[in-house]
Amino acid sequence: MTTATTGSARAQGVVGTAHTRVEGRDKVTGAARYAGEIPFADLAHGWLVLSTVARGRIRTIDTGPVLALPGVLAVLHHGNAPRVETDYIGLLGMPPDPTAAVFQNDRVPHAGWPVALVVAETSEQAREAAEALVVAYDREAHDTELATGHPGAHPAGGVMPGETAKGDLAAGLAASAVVVDEEYTTPEEHHSMMEPHAATARWDGGRLEVVDSNQGTTWVQTELASMFSLDASAVRVRSEHIGGGFGSKGLRAHQVAAVMAATHLQRPVRVVMTRRQMFSLAGYRSPTVQRVRLGADTDGRLRALEHCSLNQTSTVYEFVEPGAGVARVMYDAPAHRTVNEVVPLDVPSPTFMRAPGEAPGSFAIESALDELAVRCGVDPIELRLRNEPETGPVSGLPFSSRNLDACFREGARRFGWAERDPRPGVRRDGRWLLGTGTAAASFQAGAGPSTALVTAEADGTFTVRIAAADLGTGARTALTLVAADALEVTPERVRVRIGDSDFGPAMIAGGSMGTRSWAWAITAAAAELRERLALGADIPADGITVRSDTTEALGRLAQKERHSFGAQFAEVAVDTATGEVRVRRMLGIFAAGRIVNPLTARNQLVGGMIWGISMALHEEAVRDRGSGALYAPDLAGYHVATHADVGDIQADWVEDPDPDDPVGIKGVGEIGIVGAAAAVANAVRHATGVRHRHLPIRPDRVLAAGVRPAGGDADA
Ligand code: MOS
Repeated sequence: MTTATTGSARAQGVVGTAHTRVEGRDKVTGAARYAGEIPFADLAHGWLVLSTVARGRIRTIDTGPVLALPGVLAVLHHGNAPRVETDYIGLLGMPPDPTAAVFQNDRVPHAGWPVALVVAETSEQAREAAEALVVAYDREAHDTELATGHPGAHPAGGVMPGETAKGDLAAGLAASAVVVDEEYTTPEEHHSMMEPHAATARWDGGRLEVVDSNQGTTWVQTELASMFSLDASAVRVRSEHIGGGFGSKGLRAHQVAAVMAATHLQRPVRVVMTRRQMFSLAGYRSPTVQRVRLGADTDGRLRALEHCSLNQTSTVYEFVEPGAGVARVMYDAPAHRTVNEVVPLDVPSPTFMRAPGEAPGSFAIESALDELAVRCGVDPIELRLRNEPETGPVSGLPFSSRNLDACFREGARRFGWAERDPRPGVRRDGRWLLGTGTAAASFQAGAGPSTALVTAEADGTFTVRIAAADLGTGARTALTLVAADALEVTPERVRVRIGDSDFGPAMIAGGSMGTRSWAWAITAAAAELRERLALGADIPADGITVRSDTTEALGRLAQKERHSFGAQFAEVAVDTATGEVRVRRMLGIFAAGRIVNPLTARNQLVGGMIWGISMALHEEAVRDRGSGALYAPDLAGYHVATHADVGDIQADWVEDPDPDDPVGIKGVGEIGIVGAAAAVANAVRHATGVRHRHLPIRPDRVLAAGVRPAGGDADA
């Protein structure tokens, strides 16, 4: 028996100080194992077979020859797979995407649809057999073209209302001295996280255990329990180390196929997606077609704002990429209308992808505001500050805090904005034209109910258990610092264990809400534990454990507009001979709540900004109209920004502690990408005098659009 105090010797906490990742050494030495490499005795390997047609029915699956191949154990398909339940509402308040409920019928709704799983003794045997499996289809005509005016397009909600409107838009536009009315498009984009999706399923003493790579173990646990009609307590999901998620790592075909095969064979089965399979099975960001109409007085004050965003979804699931949502938070006008529309096509289901809605939406609205600034002859920062709303433009609610002006002022100072000559095409460096641009950013700052277990161990250390997920973001380290401060001990005395659904319900790593939600639960449990220890409680050999649940505390939060904000700045050089655009400098200043770990938070923000460069200049998945499938669905064909594409890039923040959060956190997961592509596009306009409204701004587009004589302006 030991007595421990949590002590109050340290006056200063560790939240806000830089710490390298607590699992960093394990990761760089290879000791940290990822889902696809954890050993299991008697492991069998499943390989998914995907449809080669974009629409139709499976006529036959010729399993006989494949079952005779070396090592092959089974072929699961719609003719023999167990039926699963899909009529339920999952943890996020949404029904499941039927793409994950594999092998339920003979319909093929898009190219790359899972039609079978071949299971063999080795991964190589499974792959060879999967490639040999002959599937015959009855083909039907497909439609994969997203276009405005598509007869299937309709307003759609999802995580937010599909449409908002106030005031008289036509009258507002008619009364405006300056009007912008333009269409902006963004292409299909893919998460392309480093670690592919991988899951191993096995039955262990009547309990289903799944070792996975996901953004929420209790999320995947509850989805699997619903789908296989099991009690949640009969399912355990673990996911310790994750090589990126970005919204894509929820319940997907690989986990369900692995569970079906493990059940069928009564041995552990692993299913790993290949990089190519991820392009149709892992979700993606829908392309968008967005129309923005702005009406303003000559001083840039808005009279009318309309933002309509059209995205595609599959025919089996309605996912809305809510591009118009960002205008509901950022800018007010007496006449204000926002609409998210969706059209079902014969394509894979899109899903959440870093800043869903805000990323493409901010490209359109922040480009349009830049156009308005040019036409009004008002500085783009000044134009935004003149349109700062007092309350939520649509909700009318107060902001919990809104320090966008502080971000712009600090960013402008550090970027040297005051020296900028607003005329386009006047700065040169040899054959390069130089330009600078800016854009605003915002992302919701929320929290979800979570439970945490905090244990005072007999040896004087503390163990935190929470079903959190560290996607590589540094969440585990941030939670260690939060727990240390809450317990008033050094971080060395705190061990944080995450990624296990047995630790109880917790928020997913999503919506930029993970760290905040988990920190809240840990803070609550730690406070109660300290009280108990302060009373001089003896610590038995198995420690003293306190469990928290933040459901009630979160329910008591007042209704407010809760968001992070930011100001993005970019300097580009455009090669007039080749059309190449290079981002020489980028600066992001954010008001994103209290920063728990500056080292990893900066990493998150810079990572988002690099993704913004990538979105502006490189990323584009191109669908072939004839086959309905992607051209070159791999990382050779799908370009992302690499080291050579990134110049001097900096992220920093202003003081902005959330007034209603116990630690002051808002969340930094997603805001880094918001506005980043617009800042680059606005800089390209400043460099060349030509406005680019279609991403990515490829060399061929730059060349075709040309440049304007110094000081001139045009549209591409
Ligand atoms: Mo993020 S797109 O909420 O994982």
